[in-house]
Amino acid sequence: MEPLVAAIDQGTSSTRFLVFNAKTAELICHHQVEINQSFPKEGWVEEDPREIMQSVYECMERTCEKLCQLNINVSNIKAVGVTNQRETTLVWDKETGEPLYNAIVWLDLRTQSTVERLINKAPGRNKNHLKHKTGLPISTYFSAVKLRWLLDNVDGIQEAVLNERAMFGTVDSWIIWCLTGGRNGGVHCTDMSNASRTMLFNIHTMDWDPELCRYFDIPMEILPKVRSSSEIYGWMKSGSLAGIPISGCLGDQSAALVGQMCFQEGQAKNTYGTGCFLLRNTGTKPVMSEHGLLTTVAYKLGKDEPACYALEGSVAIAGAVVRWLKDNMGIVQSSSEIEKLAAAAGTSYGCYFVPAFSGLYAPYWEPSARGIICGLTQFTNRNHLAFAALEAVCFQTREILDAMNQDSGVPLTQLQVDGGMTSNRLLMQLQADILCMPVVRPTMSETTALGAAMAAGAAEGVRVWTLSPGQLPHVTSEKYEPQINSDESEFRFGRWKKAVQKAMNWET
Ligand code: G3P
Repeated sequence: MEPLVAAIDQGTSSTRFLVFNAKTAELICHHQVEINQSFPKEGWVEEDPREIMQSVYECMERTCEKLCQLNINVSNIKAVGVTNQRETTLVWDKETGEPLYNAIVWLDLRTQSTVERLINKAPGRNKNHLKHKTGLPISTYFSAVKLRWLLDNVDGIQEAVLNERAMFGTVDSWIIWCLTGGRNGGVHCTDMSNASRTMLFNIHTMDWDPELCRYFDIPMEILPKVRSSSEIYGWMKSGSLAGIPISGCLGDQSAALVGQMCFQEGQAKNTYGTGCFLLRNTGTKPVMSEHGLLTTVAYKLGKDEPACYALEGSVAIAGAVVRWLKDNMGIVQSSSEIEKLAAAAGTSYGCYFVPAFSGLYAPYWEPSARGIICGLTQFTNRNHLAFAALEAVCFQTREILDAMNQDSGVPLTQLQVDGGMTSNRLLMQLQADILCMPVVRPTMSETTALGAAMAAGAAEGVRVWTLSPGQLPHVTSEKYEPQINSDESEFRFGRWKKAVQKAMNWET
């Protein structure tokens, strides 16, 4: 039997465990479990770290059962990679192994006033005050302000810090620590792609930055050790996979970049998950954006390999708008229904929906923006609203693609896409129409997990993944060509931009 490599893909909305053939990249089997989010106050978004781990264990065990049903021995899995929702912030007690609070999810807005205070006191009230070190604007999005909130507001955390019991981590660190033994010797680490999303990491020195830690008043001893994205961190301690090395770790957007084989400078991908993230590989040099994008560490595939950087356009709400139409409005019963509904209308009938539920991310970085739906008439119905929601995802992508093209000076000629929403063919066609360029979708949509599996399988001491980008026989793609003329596309995009201005200034 050919070697297999597996990946844990812990996203905002669900956890998956997937097993790939390391010689062909074929997806052999997988299991997925939804994750509950709680919204204890307006703007707050939390997840239960124990539920996250429960979902990881459940996905791994179920997938192993499925492998057995296929008569495949679990021992063929040679390595496991971890990929995760980024920025989501956890603190736990290393003596008890228990989380000291819920995970504060990247979308959470509770730190808005802290962020406004920090920006107000920055020279020239410049939100990019720390960008020269971090590549990031000061925003509620990143981990540092969430961790500050935890230290200031949760009973017991300061005490745990004083007693040297507190550990901070993003979701990757939590998962790796738990799987490698937890309070019985678990490994406390992260990789550079995840570390670069905390605002405590210096993307030039490639380490935690003491000055940034002082700025946010974060004790450095609670931070995980920063490692490359492809090396053995430790071994699984229990369950059906006990003894297998964990040897890949990448933030989900970096993993998708790897899984889409965007290893060359200039190559880009856009992933449609809870949010939507367009990353363009800029090679071994960090490029600072002039147009509201982030500079981030894309990956470092091995201790002795160079780090590669990316420019990133982050959109907070993509798939989340469909979940909102389902959970909050009851307009659809399941997320997959949205395509049928929108297709029945075939137009938004002049309705524009800016889902700025968590403020607006790139290229605006405006935490006080709020969602609006405008252009309603007596005629508007839920089908039009469904269509407007899908269009919103495409317009937001157009905005970050425009910024990306302006920053790099070399426009993209087609867009490589992936993620759950790309199975929506109407969305893909709309995206090609709104960008006026072809959109290319791999028929195997699990490119995020594939990227993490590749990193794990290629690590020193494992080395079962030897496929080069041109040799992935099981990864084929499908192309969507624009079907409307650019005048119509520009007209709709112009209207969208007006709606965005209203979302940003809704109070005035
Ligand atoms: O930065 C947040 C991102 O990593 C979340 O990804 O797929 O859960 O939307 P996703």
